[in-house]
Amino acid sequence: MKVLLIGATGNLGIRLVAALLTHGHSVVAFVRSSNKLESLLPASVYRQIAVVQGDATDAVSIKRAILDANCDAVVNTAGLAALPPWGNSELPAIFQAVVAAVREAGVERKKPLRAWFLAGLGVLYYPGSESMLSNYVPIYLEHRQNLDLLKSLPPNTLDWSMLCPSTMTPESSDFSVPTKLLHGKLIASAATPPSWQDSWIKYVPLIGKTLLCAMNARRYETTLEQNAEFIASDLESLESPWSGMTVGVISESK
Ligand SMILES: NC(=O)c1ccc[n+]([C@@H]2O[C@H](COP(=O)([O-])OP(=O)(O)OC[C@H]3O[C@@H](n4cnc5c(N)ncnc54)[C@H](OP(=O)(O)O)[C@@H]3O)[C@@H](O)[C@H]2O)c1
Repeated sequence: MKVLLIGATGNLGIRLVAALLTHGHSVVAFVRSSNKLESLLPASVYRQIAVVQGDATDAVSIKRAILDANCDAVVNTAGLAALPPWGNSELPAIFQAVVAAVREAGVERKKPLRAWFLAGLGVLYYPGSESMLSNYVPIYLEHRQNLDLLKSLPPNTLDWSMLCPSTMTPESSDFSVPTKLLHGKLIASAATPPSWQDSWIKYVPLIGKTLLCAMNARRYETTLEQNAEFIASDLESLESPWSGMTVGVISESK
């Protein structure tokens, strides 16, 4: 596929450049600074991609980038959610602009585009309930409003998926192609975290489920490379099993 990668200079974005190329995709990187991207990538990799400079809050520029390059899919890794519940970041504005741009490009193409978005573990449901994990550990709440926006879209306007990892750590700072995955692939599940470990601790009055979320959280740490590989691999097929879903992930070794 031809993929517009928004936020290619970030921790996940830069690894997605390498992962997408490794999976045979064409990459159009949408970044604020092409110089920064060029300084981060090996010259042999930078030569293989197209670069568009722009701001991810500018829906018009994003839509033009999609249509001019004839992209089939979009991955947005731009913007970083604020951690405290009272925090504000640019992420919701970026998210709204990207969603608007991808929708409008789909209307012009007469076919909804495929798009991957990023959120966090907190928008997944506590297993066996309809309560989000962020009701028990209220951090990175901006992801919730982003998910609400996706869920409010009329059917067949955007073929979205939302990856919901916990903390992602780097495996390496080698962004050459092909990529080498050191930590194995991810196991994924829709809407809830895969392989949740239950415990009697959840019955502790008032704080039991919060304690259990905190105990589980470390198990869901994955690497940036694993998540990049997951998205790049999913985009190999036109029909994704994760279409219209939030997706929880865990390392197969955990
Ligand atoms: N890292 C984690 O552990 C983790 C865990 C769960 C979820 N997430 C989510 O995953 C996403 C990616 O995380 P990350 O660690 O890769 O973030 P990051 O390293 O902070 O990267 C953010 C990217 O967004 C770009 N950006 C910010 N504002 C922009 C704007 N107005 N226009 C264009 N580009 C803009 C930055 O570009 P510049 O280089 O120009 O600043 C950078 O490339 C975030 O939404 C984050 O909330 C991260």
